[in-house]
Amino acid sequence: MLSIAGFDGYFKQLNPTWKTVLGFSDDELKARRLLEFVHPEDQSATRECLEKLKSNETSIYFENRYACKDGGYRWLAWTASPFIAEELIYLFARDITERKQTEEEIRQLNRALRSRAADLEHANQELEKEIAVRKRAEEALRETNAELESFSYSASHDLRAPLRAMQGFAEALIEDCANELGEVGRDYATRIIAAAGRMDALIQDLLLYSRLSHAALQLQPVDLAKVVTEAMGQLEAPLQAGNAAIQVQEPLEGVVGHHGTLVQVLCNLLSNAVKFVPSGVKPQVRVHLQANGEWGRLWVEDNGIGIASEYHTRIFRLFERLHGVDIYPGTGIGLAIVRKGAERMGGRVGVESSPGQGSRFWLELPLAHNNQT
Ligand SMILES: Nc1ncnc2c1ncn2[C@@H]1O[C@H](COP(=O)(O)OP(=O)(O)O)[C@@H](O)[C@H]1O
Ligand SMILES: [Mg+2]
Repeated sequence: MLSIAGFDGYFKQLNPTWKTVLGFSDDELKARRLLEFVHPEDQSATRECLEKLKSNETSIYFENRYACKDGGYRWLAWTASPFIAEELIYLFARDITERKQTEEEIRQLNRALRSRAADLEHANQELEKEIAVRKRAEEALRETNAELESFSYSASHDLRAPLRAMQGFAEALIEDCANELGEVGRDYATRIIAAAGRMDALIQDLLLYSRLSHAALQLQPVDLAKVVTEAMGQLEAPLQAGNAAIQVQEPLEGVVGHHGTLVQVLCNLLSNAVKFVPSGVKPQVRVHLQANGEWGRLWVEDNGIGIASEYHTRIFRLFERLHGVDIYPGTGIGLAIVRKGAERMGGRVGVESSPGQGSRFWLELPLAHNNQT
C-alpha cells in the first residue's frame, strides 16, 4: 500500500490497494487523521514515529494494528520517509497480519510446551518420590521376612528338644512304671507319645518349610525322570502299604529347577495323591509332563476324593486342611512347601479338581531346552 501524508497527519494520496486491504474508501481514509485508525494500544508508539519523521531526514520502520471497515484490525508494517521541505511523508505499508498470527501461534505453542515440560518435570518428581517410598517399604518387608524366617527356623529347632524329652519320659513311664500306672495311666502315656509324635511331625514340616524359604537355591537343568524315581524311592513304604499304582509317562524332559526341592515337592504331591482316596479304593496316580513353549507342566493326577473349587487356592496355605487328622493324618504343610518350592524355583503350582472326580495337581517350570542332560 502506497500513500502520501501531510505533516498535519492526514492522507493526501492513497493507491487502491488500501481499499482492498482495509475496506475503507479513499474519502473515508482521508477524512480522519491517519493516527485515528491506529489501534489504541499502538497509538503512542506510532505518534512518536510520526513526530520523529518531521524533524529527521531518515526513513523509519514501524509496525501497528490498523482499523478495517469491518471493525477488525490488520497488522501493518510501515516504511516512512519524510520530505521536510514539502512537509510530506511517503508511507509504504505491507499487510503482515498472517505473519503476526503465525508468530503468536508459535508463542502460544512455546508457552504450552513449557507448561507441559513443567508438568512432566512435576510428574517425574512425584514418581521419584513414590519409588523412594516403595523402596523403603520393600526394604522393610525384606527385613521383616528375614526376621520371621530365622525366627521360625530357630523356634522349630528349639521346640523339638523338649518334645523329645516328653516322648522319652512318657516311654520310660510305660516301660519302668507300668504296674504303678495301671491300664488308664498307660493309655494316657500312650496318648502323650502319639500327640508328641504329631507335634514332632508338625515341627519337622515347619522346619522344612522354613529352610526352603531361606535357603539359597541354585537353579540349573534337572532330570525329571531322576526326580520322580527318587521321590518314589522315598515313599516306598506308604506306596506299598496303600497298594498304590503309580504310572510315570515318558518322556520326562529336563526342566530348570533345584533337584532336592523338586524331590521334596514331588514327594508331597505323590503322598497326597495316594493318601486322599476313599477307603477301600486302590490309589492310581499318573505322572506326566506337558510341554508348552518355554514351559513344562508336571502333572500328578489321582483317582482320589477330589477338592471343591472354593478350596483350590486355600489348600496351598500353611495349615489349611479339609479333614480331621483322625480320617486323613497330616500337618497341612505339604502343599505350602510345594507352593513355596515352586515360587523359589520361579515356577507356579495349581490344581484342577472337583469332589469325587480325582485331582490333577500341576507344577510349572521353565523347560531346559538347550542344556538338556
Ligand atoms: N490329592 C489330593 N486329593 C484331595 N485332597 C487333597 C489332595 N492333596 C491335598 N488335599 C487337601 O489339601 C489339604 C492340604 O494338603 P497338605 O498341605 O499336603 O496337608 P496334609 O497332607 O498334611 O493334610 C489336605 O489336608 C487335603 O484336604
Ligand atoms: Mg500332604
